[in-house]
Amino acid sequence: MRVLDVGCGWGSFVLHAATRYGVTVVGITISTEQAELVRKRVAEAGLTDRVEIRVQDYRDIDDGPYDAVSSLGMSEHVGREQLGRYVSQLHGLLRPGGRLLNHAISWNAGPTEDDPDSFIPRYVFPDGEMLSLGEMVVALEGGGFEVLDVEALRRHYALTLRAWVKNLEEQWDEAVRLTSEGRARIWRLYMAASALGFESGLTGVNQVLLQKPGGQEPPLRLRNWAG
Ligand SMILES: C[S@@+](CC[C@H](N)C(=O)[O-])C[C@H]1O[C@@H](n2cnc3c(N)ncnc32)[C@H](O)[C@@H]1O
Repeated sequence: MRVLDVGCGWGSFVLHAATRYGVTVVGITISTEQAELVRKRVAEAGLTDRVEIRVQDYRDIDDGPYDAVSSLGMSEHVGREQLGRYVSQLHGLLRPGGRLLNHAISWNAGPTEDDPDSFIPRYVFPDGEMLSLGEMVVALEGGGFEVLDVEALRRHYALTLRAWVKNLEEQWDEAVRLTSEGRARIWRLYMAASALGFESGLTGVNQVLLQKPGGQEPPLRLRNWAG
């Protein structure tokens, strides 16, 4: 089974998929630092024969078909304008019956004016754009996918963010040494404010499991389906 992880970050999913499920994985990121670190982690885990890490834009991937695609925390970087292209690119990379897991933070408070000078776009995620879960699902269905499952993890993510703030505070001196006082403070504020956003319901995070039509039908019970 061949899996593509778009926006592989620090490689946690790539390592999990290759170790736990024995699949072949291609992980892509646009960050050379991330790619270098993930390659090192892959080598340390003895997985170089099954895991390939590339510095590549998702729009340039042309070596499908894949059996499954995961996109975790990456579609927030795509934005409304490019969303149709994103969906058709992932659809085109999958074989018939192949699955997509799209995990994304959602904006639950209706239309707002984007302000590029506000705190998050200016200091944390330039050019990011959060959509509602509904908008995301409409785009994915419009691009030819069938929705198999939606899992809302808003309250779980609030707990995760609180744990991240605690970890950062416990390792404050080390974080400042590795970055700077200003950077560490930006991330503490960002994560604390994000925790409030998830606790209040202003934002959510959702995993949408989809299938490209064709191929084999999934089982009736999806839990633990590794297909
Ligand atoms: C917020 S991180 C999420 C990382 C990881 N999936 C995780 O869940 O921890 C976003 C990732 O998307 C990648 N990314 C952003 N824009 C991209 C693009 N146009 N093509 C490929 N990857 C992109 C970044 O390099 C980064 O690895």
